[in-house]
Amino acid sequence: MKGLVLSGGKGSRLRPLTYTRAKQLVPVANKPVLFYGIEALAAAGVRDIGIVVGDTRNEIRAAVGDGSQWDVTVTYIEQDAPSGLAHAVLISEPFLGDEPFVMYLGDNLLKKGITPFVEEFKRAKPAAQILLTRVPDPQMFGVAELADGKVLRLVEKPKEPKSDLALVGVYMFGPEIFESVKQITPSARNELEITEAIQHLIDRGCVVRPHLVDGWWKDTGKLDDMLEANRLILETFDRRVDGTVDAESRVEGKVVVEPGAQIVGSVVRGPVIIGANARVEQAYVGPFTSIMNDVEIRGSEIEHSIVLEGSVLSELSNRVIDSLIGRNVRIYRQPDKPSAYRFMLGDNSEVGIRW
Ligand code: G1P
Repeated sequence: MKGLVLSGGKGSRLRPLTYTRAKQLVPVANKPVLFYGIEALAAAGVRDIGIVVGDTRNEIRAAVGDGSQWDVTVTYIEQDAPSGLAHAVLISEPFLGDEPFVMYLGDNLLKKGITPFVEEFKRAKPAAQILLTRVPDPQMFGVAELADGKVLRLVEKPKEPKSDLALVGVYMFGPEIFESVKQITPSARNELEITEAIQHLIDRGCVVRPHLVDGWWKDTGKLDDMLEANRLILETFDRRVDGTVDAESRVEGKVVVEPGAQIVGSVVRGPVIIGANARVEQAYVGPFTSIMNDVEIRGSEIEHSIVLEGSVLSELSNRVIDSLIGRNVRIYRQPDKPSAYRFMLGDNSEVGIRW
């Protein structure tokens, strides 16, 4: 059994962060999303993993390396353009050969991992096994129509969905899939859709097994989903304080304070993670917040947010909430007159001011 992790794509729904960073490397609870997927594969006993990379290949390679940190072997597969999930399968045929494989979209997170799913596939040996979950907005996903426990039809992002069962970004295939990815043609968004390739398998009379996911699933391609995934992961943490907390501070509940981090005169209310060498001073860090390494929160309040490496929040008069703040960002208040907003924001930035 091999693994195929898809880590190309532009991450347009997470701009401007994704102008300078692969979407799969944006951290959830201070760990790149991609790493959760690799860990899930390793836990299911999948040790030979191909990672399909595009424009962000160098960054992905630098972060993942040869896979030895998870005791797996990683092979990089170059995709020259983001031409769809089925295209990624097509170009990976030399790596996959005729072995069954798990395909895992690098920005997906599944609470319970994939081990039972892989075991079920190994026992039943269908041509494909798909993971499904009920969602409130099925038109945003590939949607499955089932009858008598069988997959009748799959449609990619239908305007009028026939069910609320979305395709989760983890699939299992036997070698039959190669024939189908070669037969289909590009969709309206000019991609070879894996959804269509699986439909092609069904039309050829191959067995496609559905498997309903229990426990949460998140596709972290958008801000709200990132924040939700962050919340869900932080909730699973146990308290661990390795950094320093001064006598004037209160650190409450499930809080991880990494080595070298300093909490001074502040209140930190978990679930929260504070990265190595971060400094929280005269501040409030509220529930569901991930503060990465080398961040400074000074004289400010923040909750339900993610702040990436090296950023500074200083003397802000309102609490920051529901935010994703990139690397080396500086947000500060100055006493100068006239009082005003002063911005220097990259393309596609977003600033929301609540009164
Ligand atoms: C892709 C698939 C879609 C699936 C989704 C899961 O969508 O095409 O069928 O439901 O991943 O994350 P995309 O992220 O390419 O819009």
